[in-house]
Amino acid sequence: MSIFIYGNWKMELNREEAVQLASYIDNRCRDLPGNIEVCLFPAVSLLDPVSQKIEGGSAISLGAQNVHWDIKGPYTGETSVNMLPGNCKAVLVGHSERRSLFHETNANINRKIGTIMSNGLKVVLCVGENRGQMQEDVACSIITDQIQTALGGFTEFVEGQLLLAYEPAWAIGSGLAANPVIANRRAELIKRTVRRLGVMCDSDPVPVLYGGSVNQGNAFSYLAQENIEGLLIGGASINGERFIDIIEQVRDL
Ligand code: PGA
Repeated sequence: MSIFIYGNWKMELNREEAVQLASYIDNRCRDLPGNIEVCLFPAVSLLDPVSQKIEGGSAISLGAQNVHWDIKGPYTGETSVNMLPGNCKAVLVGHSERRSLFHETNANINRKIGTIMSNGLKVVLCVGENRGQMQEDVACSIITDQIQTALGGFTEFVEGQLLLAYEPAWAIGSGLAANPVIANRRAELIKRTVRRLGVMCDSDPVPVLYGGSVNQGNAFSYLAQENIEGLLIGGASINGERFIDIIEQVRDL
């Protein structure tokens, strides 16, 4: 079974720092077991320099933090999927920072997923409740709605092309990680919702990552859960030693 360890670098690193970190992680991951999939998500403008560092048989893959839903057009400041380097294999969609700070709607997320999918890239769809929606039934209906609209109209993904990440907005960057048992319950809801929508993935049930204040101390507690297959890590992924420490723990699973 695959385990996904994904690092979301957000807008935290400059060019030099990103290249150095990519080299460090690449070197430390040279003998990674085949079932551990490490993917780094640098800022879009740093994908090229980072991709040059991890070329040539690297065990690491690259992803973008966001793309526009159109291939080209008058969208100042935006990036199209066909501007990404060839070894960029995945795109994050619906991250809570994009939803809350950049007003990304489920309908726009749906359009982005169509574009990403038809360009042969992997979709990493982030869902989760915010602080005001933490009550169980509210959180569950928010997550269900997010998935239903985002995946509406898509019935088939090719192998490994769809992953979901449960990322409660209140846990992101706050140091308040979700309780692993509750995260597992949400991951189970996510799998069930995707299946009920009739979305066909070769990897059924769809893999679900947990994200939100993951660190070396709590990473294992999520991966030990039945419905969680990986981690989407922000803060702890921009520190090479911490990120590698988490990967080392996964080797023992
Ligand atoms: P965090 O971020 O690990 O810093 O909480 C996770 C994310 O935003 O994906």
